Amino acid sequence: MVDRTPLDPAAYRSVVSRYATGITVVSTVVGGRRHGLTVNSFTSLSLHPLLAMFACEHDAALHEPLLQAGTWAVSVLGADQQPAAAYFATRERPDGPDQFDGWPSRPGPVTGAPLLDGSLAWLEFRTWATYDGGDHTIVVGEVVGMELGADGEPLLYFRSSYRA
Ligand SMILES: Cc1cc2nc3c(=O)[nH]c(=O)nc-3n(C[C@H](O)[C@H](O)[C@H](O)COP(=O)(O)O)c2cc1C
Repeated sequence: MVDRTPLDPAAYRSVVSRYATGITVVSTVVGGRRHGLTVNSFTSLSLHPLLAMFACEHDAALHEPLLQAGTWAVSVLGADQQPAAAYFATRERPDGPDQFDGWPSRPGPVTGAPLLDGSLAWLEFRTWATYDGGDHTIVVGEVVGMELGADGEPLLYFRSSYRA
């Protein structure tokens, strides 16, 4: 007889943590202020048209600026970018004039959203649709720019820790 896992948030977290993902930093810029968030819910969605999606927590500092800007970017992190992943997932990080201060980046050529230097790939998006996702908003974006970066190993997330 297999023990049933209780249906609560903590148990759910430990069960879904066995699904390995890559790690991205989603970014946007509004009124000259650059915002970024560590995200592992990013996934490609459609080829015709080119669409991808991620889920943004309602409480995340990125949530309002991203919806306001209507454009955003994704930096796909490599194995050596764990410090950036940890920084953009820290609630205590400064949400002052510029969250990217000290993190080498360049503005996306189409959206102006910051692209982290040294990433494996970058994509830029215009918001295509948003959907209710419980305590998250599901944000679907249409690709408006993309570029390959370093040819390195990916940063992964599995069982609540970073792996390479
Ligand atoms: C590996 C990892 C993946 C994450 N993925 C997401 C995600 O897909 N969507 C999201 O809203 N938050 C995600 N988070 C949580 C945010 O990065 C975290 O809540 C962040 O600190 C929000 O803080 P802020 O409100 O100060 O921006 C993830 C965190 C980690 C460590």
